Amino acid sequence: MIHSPSSSASGRSATSRTTSRAKTSVLVSGIQPSGRLHIGNYLGALKNFVDLQRSGEYQCHFFIADLHSITEPFDLREKHRQITELSADYLAAGLDPKQSVLYVQSHIPAHSELMWILSTITPMGELQRMTQFKDKSVRQEENINAGLFTYPVLMAADILLYGARTVPVGDDQLQHLELTRTLARKFNAKFGETFIEPKGLLTKTPRVMSLKDPLKKMSKSQPEGCLFLDDEPEAIKAKIARAVTDSETTIAYDPEKRPGLANLLEIYAALTHLEPRAVAAEFDGESYAELKRKLAGLVAGYFAEFRAKKRTLLSAPSKVTAIFDKGSKKATKAAEAKIAEVKRRVGFSA
Ligand code: ADP
Ligand code: TRP
Repeated sequence: MIHSPSSSASGRSATSRTTSRAKTSVLVSGIQPSGRLHIGNYLGALKNFVDLQRSGEYQCHFFIADLHSITEPFDLREKHRQITELSADYLAAGLDPKQSVLYVQSHIPAHSELMWILSTITPMGELQRMTQFKDKSVRQEENINAGLFTYPVLMAADILLYGARTVPVGDDQLQHLELTRTLARKFNAKFGETFIEPKGLLTKTPRVMSLKDPLKKMSKSQPEGCLFLDDEPEAIKAKIARAVTDSETTIAYDPEKRPGLANLLEIYAALTHLEPRAVAAEFDGESYAELKRKLAGLVAGYFAEFRAKKRTLLSAPSKVTAIFDKGSKKATKAAEAKIAEVKRRVGFSA
């Protein structure tokens, strides 16, 4: 678990420590460009990306999972815009091309190539068990494509290709990571020691719940329940004011019995580095309306710098794209060396 010292989304005040020590441990993660990022994406993943980058402990690789995102219905022009927007989100949140390799998955053919090889050692049964596949098959029954099914194999390739030991994600991705470990083990057993078995790294808020339905995770596919990172203060206020809670009047942290309130307390806690119970104690005797009002102010302030930076970055999108193009070239070098090794192991070259 990572505890961040930073105080805002782009956190200039945070410790931007760059160490001269060799960063030997590789870390990889990605997000799909499939819509605006919400506070669940931030507290479960992106905030951690920035904290881990700043820790100076890892060789960080962060990418845009555009190949994964085309397993869901999409519009061609819109996809291009989404890739640029997510690139700007990464930069506005504090990812820095001087400290991390930032790239676009589809620019690096080795991801797809390794995926194919891994797919030949992937048991169908393992893929059939995947919760995300089952959920998405219900959600998009008109388009249950094979890519949706083999999605976790591409994710395994994304990770194994760079020798990552650490993969920061929200808890919905842990099942995919388990498969990644299985595939690394199977490949190593069959072809010789080639891959490292990675571990997932969760934050204290690995599952932020929907504001509309606190029993479901906040998800881009259900925008009604999302608090987006670039929502303006008025929208934040209105959404939090309408967030589903319960009919009690006192403020207490009880995720089992009062999940809506607990979700709000957890968001508050994550942004202030307090424990949810301590936040509840702070609001003892106050109304839900007061908690919601203060939380809205906190969220609006926390992401103010992020919103401004994102706006500036998107006013010059070609500069944003250039940063990721450069990163993609860097990533390609490492990826090509690894895929050549894999092909040798499998027997395709001497
Ligand atoms: P979504 O489900 O909203 O489309 P993604 O699948 O693109 O989100 O997820 C990007 C990252 O954000 C992943 O690491 C995922 O685990 C994390 N994540 C997504 N939703 C949440 C949530 N509600 N709470 C915490 N982390 C989340
Ligand atoms: N599947 C992840 C998600 O939906 C995105 C992703 C693709 C990823 N490849 C990855 C995350 C590799 C971590 C490592 O959020």
